[in-house]
Amino acid sequence: MRVLVTGKHGQLSKQLQLDASAAITLQALDRAQCDIRNATDVLTAVTDFSPDVVINAAAYTAVDQAESDAEQAYAVNALGVENIARACLSNDTRLLHVSTDFVFNGQQSQPYQPSDVIDPLGVYGASKAAGEQRVQALMPAAIILRTAWVYSCHGNNFMKTMLRLMAERDELSVVVDQIGTPTSTPTLAQTIFALIDNTQAQGIYHCTDAGQGSWYDFAVAIYEQAQALGLLPANKSVTIRPIKTTEYPAPAQRPSYSVLDHSRLQADTGLVMRDWRVVLAEELNKLLVETAQTLKDSECISNK
Ligand SMILES: NC(=O)c1ccc[n+]([C@@H]2O[C@H](COP(=O)([O-])OP(=O)(O)OC[C@H]3O[C@@H](n4cnc5c(N)ncnc54)[C@H](OP(=O)(O)O)[C@@H]3O)[C@@H](O)[C@H]2O)c1
Repeated sequence: MRVLVTGKHGQLSKQLQLDASAAITLQALDRAQCDIRNATDVLTAVTDFSPDVVINAAAYTAVDQAESDAEQAYAVNALGVENIARACLSNDTRLLHVSTDFVFNGQQSQPYQPSDVIDPLGVYGASKAAGEQRVQALMPAAIILRTAWVYSCHGNNFMKTMLRLMAERDELSVVVDQIGTPTSTPTLAQTIFALIDNTQAQGIYHCTDAGQGSWYDFAVAIYEQAQALGLLPANKSVTIRPIKTTEYPAPAQRPSYSVLDHSRLQADTGLVMRDWRVVLAEELNKLLVETAQTLKDSECISNK
C-alpha cells in the first residue's frame, strides 16, 4: 500500500514514519515540499506519488495563537484540508483526515459519540470543524479520525513540557477542571494503520487511549512515573497544585469535558484501547532509553 503523509515533522507524522510496516511504502512531505494551503502543491504531490491513501497529519495546532491568527488557522485547517480532499478526489485516492476533541463544546458529562453535535468554543476548534465539514461535503467516504491530548516522546507536547518544568521548578500549578484523555502517538499510529487496512472504514471515528483524567491528573502521573524511572534529577521534589481554569487565563476557551467514545472504532478495527496511565509509562520508558543513548553517544564523542 502506498501512503502519503502530510506534516512530516509533526509528532503524529513522525510516529507514522516510525511505525509503518514493511507492507507500506510511505512518503512523508513537509511544509516546504507540500504546503497544504497551496492547491497546486497538493495536487502535484498526490498525482506524482499516486498513493492509495493520503493521511492528513498537517494542521495549525497552536490553539491560543489561533485566536489572533484566525486567517492562518482557517487557511491550513479548512482550506488546506479542502485542497487535500480535492486532490484525493481527482486521483481516486482514499483520505484519512485527523481532527480534534476541540470541535465539541464540553458541556456533556458522558463520552462524546462521533455522531454528537459539534459546537467548537475557539478559533482552532472552529477551523478544524470547518475542515471536517469540507471533507464530508467533498468525500463522504473519507475517514475523519478525532483524537485528543496528543503526546509523544518526540515533538512538543504536555508531557515534554511538564518534564522540563519539573526539572526546573519546585512548584507547578495545573488545571484540574478540564477532563479528557491523554493519547500517545503510537496508539494513534496503530489506529490509523488499522483503519486504512479496513477498506470498509469511512466516516467519523474517535480514538484516544482509555480512561479519563484532568490535566492535573496527567501532570501527577507524569511526575510519579518519571520519578520512579529516574527521569527527574535525584531527590527532586515538586509540589503540583490543582487550579481552576479561571486561575490560568488563556486566549482560547477549551472544553471542560471532552472524553471521546471509541466504541465505533473498536467495533470496526477490533482494537482495544489501553488505559492512558499504562501507555504513558511506555512513552516515559522510551524517553529513558533515548536519554541514556544520547548520554552514551556524547561520552563516546568526548572520549575520542
Ligand atoms: N496535539 C494535540 O494535542 C492534538 C489534539 C487533538 C487533535 N490533534 C490533531 O492531530 C493532528 C496531528 O497533530 P500533531 O500534534 O502531530 O501536530 P504538530 O506536532 O503540531 O504537527 C503539525 C505539522 O503540520 C505542519 N503544517 C502546519 N501548517 C502546514 C502547512 N500549511 N502545510 C504543510 N504542513 C503544515 C507543521 O509543519 P511545521 O513543522 O513546518 O510547522 C507540523 O509539522 C492534527 O490534525 C491536530 O489537529 C492534535
